[in-house]
Amino acid sequence: MNVTRWPAEAIWEAVFAVLPGFSVEVLPEIDSTNSELMRRARAGQCEPVLLVAERQTAGRGRLGRDWQSDTQGDGGTLTFSLGLPLQPADWSGLSLAVGLSVVQSLHPELQLKWPNDIWWQGRKLAGILIETASAGTQRYAVIGVGINITPRKGGGLRTPPAALQELLPEVDAPEVLHRVIAPLVQAVLTFTTEGFAPLRSAYQARDLLAGQAVVCTDGTQGTALGVDASGVLLVDTGAGTVRINSAEVSVRPVSAPPLNPS
Ligand code: BTN
Repeated sequence: MNVTRWPAEAIWEAVFAVLPGFSVEVLPEIDSTNSELMRRARAGQCEPVLLVAERQTAGRGRLGRDWQSDTQGDGGTLTFSLGLPLQPADWSGLSLAVGLSVVQSLHPELQLKWPNDIWWQGRKLAGILIETASAGTQRYAVIGVGINITPRKGGGLRTPPAALQELLPEVDAPEVLHRVIAPLVQAVLTFTTEGFAPLRSAYQARDLLAGQAVVCTDGTQGTALGVDASGVLLVDTGAGTVRINSAEVSVRPVSAPPLNPS
């Protein structure tokens, strides 16, 4: 049997100084790392923790969707959640800051698809699910990240997912975890004091949607113009610029006819 060696100690050493009380936990199997940390937070366990699962049996995505990951637990997908008490002045843009940190740790070719997907060459490579629970006077944030490491079947998805090994053949799940976590913790802590605004230009350099025709689930159609200083998506509908900030909105490039055919 192949036992995966996770760099738990190295990650702890890189993080504990900036996040007192931090711990790292690796489980062979759990329903969902996000669900587990939310259960713990609701039970009053609100310490900073990194929870990694080798296998999720009920991974969750945004908008109540399932997150299908590697069911063998053989490192095909990296799934983890970072839980920590957080009190930013403004929460908007947190998921963008998280996605930006992850892509910056991994590869210059990775792109961000608003609000919190990571894509490569027109295919989704990773997803982010952020949830919060009450933690006394603060909130407890659970930042869940799932990254496809090895190529896998589409599983009924319209576009088959991308995998990091297509881009970085030498990496495996433990190595990716090691690369990503310390910068991610730092990015989240910096976000709490500075917000999204200082990250806007770095986000725009990775923005998959900028300049593309998009359609939103609230019916808005137009050309994506990028994001504003709080991470809100701006869409030029032809009749003006619409601000898209609802978590209930998903955005997808479309091959739509021109908005104002002449
Ligand atoms: C999405 O693409 O809609 C978000 C996917 C988030 C998946 C990660 S995997 C680790 C954590 N646990 C979950 O159940 N979901 C997140």
